[in-house]
Amino acid sequence: MTTEQTRTVRVVQARWEADGVVSLRLRAGDGTPLPPWEPGAHLDLVLPSGSVRQYSLCGEPDSADYTVAVLREAAGRGGSAELHDTALVGRELRIRGPRNRFELEPARRYVFVAGGIGITPLLAMIRRVAARGLPWELHYGGRRRDTLAFTRELTALAERSVGELHLRSDDVEGPLPLTEIVRGAPAGAMLYACGPGGLLTALAGTVERENPALALRFERFTAAPAEPAPGGAAFDVELARTGGSVTVQPGQSILDAVRQKLPDVLYSCEEGFCGTCETKVLEGEPVHRDTLLSPKERAKNTTMMICVGGCASARLVLDL
Ligand code: FES
Repeated sequence: MTTEQTRTVRVVQARWEADGVVSLRLRAGDGTPLPPWEPGAHLDLVLPSGSVRQYSLCGEPDSADYTVAVLREAAGRGGSAELHDTALVGRELRIRGPRNRFELEPARRYVFVAGGIGITPLLAMIRRVAARGLPWELHYGGRRRDTLAFTRELTALAERSVGELHLRSDDVEGPLPLTEIVRGAPAGAMLYACGPGGLLTALAGTVERENPALALRFERFTAAPAEPAPGGAAFDVELARTGGSVTVQPGQSILDAVRQKLPDVLYSCEEGFCGTCETKVLEGEPVHRDTLLSPKERAKNTTMMICVGGCASARLVLDL
């Protein structure tokens, strides 16, 4: 949730993993082991400028440190460039989490599809699957060979486990053959994917068309088509932890109204896909417009993304 505590970490190693991709090893400011995590988890990184960005953990889950990998995105919102330029060894950063919205579910075997920097959560999953002796295959694509990160480690993992590694780059073999991958997925396999929105949308369409029985799980780094923006009447939001309340005007987001009282409230995408603003709902009926919560989570109404969510009751009480 938005006011969840952050902790200070120090960058103890920065390493080039591919063209434009640097991995950062983070250690607790006081040197104590960082809390454990499971494959698929991500961190909120509070950048020196105050912006918040999400990065999947891609190191060893039982390590005392955390490792994230950051692609410098020329067309991004500036967070990746800020990290590349400022998060050098010795720098301090604040983090929140880890949290996991992309858990590795039990299956007999796994098919992984990664596009570009989408390899990061899948790398941790593959390590886990390989350690359990389960069969896996990875189809990993990027613009050029030198943009593919962690290929040496992936090759070693494939050699010492029941794994198959298929690397492709747009300039040599062309895009990932999604139809072939989906048609060829063995019975009982789960398909995990992470990468650009276009790849995930195409993959979901291919599964629906070619192999609807195949269980697909994916994580987006960018917004999916949003649900209609809030309209209707104003409503009140009570801030249970800090006291007081705010009125959310028609067309205004809850986040905007809350920020007037709590300027430090954390948020990032403001489009309902990153989870940074997730907040517990204590009373009232929220309207969910994010692309993160599952239908089951939505139905429970115990949590919401306040950057896009609305209210179906006269008032909401939030754990803020
Ligand atoms: S700020 Fe990203 S989900 Fe609300």
